[in-house]
Amino acid sequence: MFPQRIAVVGTGYVGLTTGACLASLGHDVTCADVDEAKVERLRHGRTDILEPGLADLLAGGLAAGRLRFLVDLAEAAGEAEAVFLCLPTPRGPAGAADLGVVESVVHELRRVVRPGAVLVCKSTVPVGTAARLTALVARDDVAVVSNPEFLREGTAVADFLGPDRIVVGADDPDAVERVAALYAGLGAPVVRTDARSAEMVKYAANCFLAMKLSYVNTLGELCERLGADLGAVTEGMGLDRRIGPGFLRPGPGWGGSCLPKDAAAMLRMATVADVDFGLLRAAVEANQRHRGRVVAKVRAAVGGRLAGVRIGVLGLAFKAGTSDLRDSPAIEVVRLLGLEGAEVVAHDPAVSPDLPGVVVVDDPYLVAKQAEAVVVLTEWPQFRAIDWALVAQAMTGRTVVDPRNHLDPEPLARAGLVWLGTGCGARG
Ligand code: UGA
Repeated sequence: MFPQRIAVVGTGYVGLTTGACLASLGHDVTCADVDEAKVERLRHGRTDILEPGLADLLAGGLAAGRLRFLVDLAEAAGEAEAVFLCLPTPRGPAGAADLGVVESVVHELRRVVRPGAVLVCKSTVPVGTAARLTALVARDDVAVVSNPEFLREGTAVADFLGPDRIVVGADDPDAVERVAALYAGLGAPVVRTDARSAEMVKYAANCFLAMKLSYVNTLGELCERLGADLGAVTEGMGLDRRIGPGFLRPGPGWGGSCLPKDAAAMLRMATVADVDFGLLRAAVEANQRHRGRVVAKVRAAVGGRLAGVRIGVLGLAFKAGTSDLRDSPAIEVVRLLGLEGAEVVAHDPAVSPDLPGVVVVDDPYLVAKQAEAVVVLTEWPQFRAIDWALVAQAMTGRTVVDPRNHLDPEPLARAGLVWLGTGCGARG
């Protein structure tokens, strides 16, 4: 049973991390992708995904001959005992997840997979998809198993190799055991269930996290009005083991390629099922408002009008440790600032200066030049090490808006700057 021959279809951050990590566990892994140029780069151990530890695992897997990359799906999957589907499920009409790519791959796989193979769905798919794919495969000798991923961008390798839990769901208990066995050695609790429940776990977790963040961001607004300190409040809440300390940091709103898409898909599922998920809808709406609140703070800091005013932006990626700009709250804040006529100059350590629509500079100090205000939108650690005296000299204004409460206000105050965080009064 161990190791197994595994195929991974799709080499995005989930597929590539899954393939490289499964190979590091000892499995014989072949990854398939339609992008020939990407496959060629991966064969040479080159990846454009910024994931700590991934390049080393890739090199190790290639050197050991346990990791291969192919374009041909039939060749990659034909001999595999398990075929992992790590394919995009983008936001489709009315927020529903678009299953077009998953279905067309499964359609092709049905002809080529060997008897007894399991199709393991890692992609985030609506509840009921495994049943739909089972019907599409239409083979009694092939099982479809839901095995959602819980990988965060930027810590995907660590999340894969040290998971909080592994969720495996199928209507065939034998198929569940075969997939659970692939992870033997990770020592994580395994939740064994039916396919629909496994599919729901993924949405339930991501949407809960999204609601937690909207709660914290709104709490921040209330703390500002009532004179409480959000940092102390979240510390006091987070020590309650029923709440937990994670996902309590405020920010310009939650974003990225997963949380917003999954919240939209969950709302769509609820609508179709005739369930009023007002709680989640409110969290999505609050998230939209938070971006506007950041802009309002910047506007107030520069005297109430943004037209023709230069604003420096530090951070564009949706979170630190990634160059991903998909559904990034920072991009939305920049867009809103631009709509009001502000001249935005931005810097992000992982984003190249030729980003269309924004003036991006490759030096964090350049964003301060003649800026009326600076706003920090991504929690890159290097922003903490900025020489604020140099920033203060270059700025025409005084305020640094820090929605994530990422900076230490002390050095800013020493440089004569005013720090404006979330859920607390201005300092400096
Ligand atoms: C998220 C989930 O955390 C993963 O478990 C899941 O597997 C993944 O989606 C997915 O569905 O594939 P990810 O999108 O990489 O992972 O990003 P997170 O680290 O969850 O951050 C999401 C957003 O919340 C970011 O905008 C981040 O800045 C924000 N955030 C997070 C906060 O504002 N405060 C926090 O305390 C934590």
